Amino acid sequence: MGSTKPLTGAGLRGQVAGKTALSTVGVSGSGLTYRGYDIKDLVEHCEFEEVAYLILKGKLPTRDELLAYKSKLKSLRRLPGELKSALENIPANAHPMDVMRTGCSMLGNLETELDFSDQEDAADRLLAIFPSIICYWYRYNHDGVRIDENTDDGSIGAHFLHMLHDETPKALHETVMNVSLILYAEHEFNASTFTARVCASTLSDMHSCITGAIGSLRGPLHGGANEAAMDMIAKFNGPDHAEREMLGMLERKEKIMGFGHAIYSESDPRNEIIKGWSEKLADDVGDSALYPVSVRCEEVMWREKRLFCNADFFHASAYHFMGIPTKLFTPIFVMSRVTGWAAHVMEQRADNRIIRPSAEYVGEAPRRVQPISERS
Ligand SMILES: CC(C)(COP(=O)(O)OP(=O)(O)OC[C@H]1O[C@@H](n2cnc3c(N)ncnc32)[C@H](O)[C@@H]1OP(=O)(O)O)[C@@H](O)C(=O)NCCC(=O)NCCS
Repeated sequence: MGSTKPLTGAGLRGQVAGKTALSTVGVSGSGLTYRGYDIKDLVEHCEFEEVAYLILKGKLPTRDELLAYKSKLKSLRRLPGELKSALENIPANAHPMDVMRTGCSMLGNLETELDFSDQEDAADRLLAIFPSIICYWYRYNHDGVRIDENTDDGSIGAHFLHMLHDETPKALHETVMNVSLILYAEHEFNASTFTARVCASTLSDMHSCITGAIGSLRGPLHGGANEAAMDMIAKFNGPDHAEREMLGMLERKEKIMGFGHAIYSESDPRNEIIKGWSEKLADDVGDSALYPVSVRCEEVMWREKRLFCNADFFHASAYHFMGIPTKLFTPIFVMSRVTGWAAHVMEQRADNRIIRPSAEYVGEAPRRVQPISERS
């Protein structure tokens, strides 16, 4: 942990593209910090809403500030009627990340951010409403019910599970959701955050920035990896089968989702934490298949390629053990990362210059246009 890859290569790897006071990834011996606090410390001592407050407002809240913030977020869960109608019109076979993207964009039409004086409110509204957006669409299209999104649950994690399963979640599940949302909340200049910052640098509105970020997160090389990892481990009928299949995939030079990282070189500090919770959930449901399969995958990848699990790999089994459908895994990432995205948008606005890099031209030498009648 703490060791990072050399600062060279394609994909803008290692190039410092701006400043941030929000997080460090693999810097100076620390795995991951949010505003100076180590992720392990935050997971041990804080609720997700406390961490969201820290990321969005710059300091850990007092008890009274946290209570007020949670109550504010609770009051912002409701879906406008027009948004409900829009969600009802998205087909059941749509990708849930497309639903999140459309939901965010539609909200931008209904509650447009007119000027940046209300940017913190726009961020809080998105944080509060994303679970309602995904659950309303999912339950309407899959169970034929119009859910009541105004649950009484105190936390965002419990609120999400309650709407999804139509019952108050057990304490263990609320705790794991809390941990998961903290782990996914912020991660410096990753692809989706950078998308949000580029958009913010044009002085665009919050909903446009977050909508763009959702599009970037959707891909399997980024947030979509947890779903892809789940699809893979679900096909293995035991650890030995998993090992044979993994070796075959490596032989064929296939990318194995949930492993490797653009910045970390030896481990992802989030993995150890979510792996521990996945094991507890496996015990809780009496699993003797998926967790051992996941552990064997981890062993094979490290032994064969020195590739380690990133945050996504054990999130797959953890979410599965809590009865969350695989296609909703990446939307949970959005429910959390919106805090980091919105904080980056605000940070970019506070000290802005439009982001406009240059390209190395590798095309044709200068030439004249041939009249269309002379072209073959
Ligand atoms: C995260 C990721 C995009 C980082 O990409 P990157 O920085 O370009 O990766 P690296 O430079 O470390 O790759 C080094 C080598 O390991 C291989 N590699 C990296 N991750 C791999 C994986 N998950 N499965 C198989 N091989 C992998 C690369 O193909 C490359 O091989 P090569 O040198 O023969 O071309 C990449 O590891 C990946 O695609 N992982 C799977 C998707 C994933 O889990 N994403 C979530 C990230 S949090």
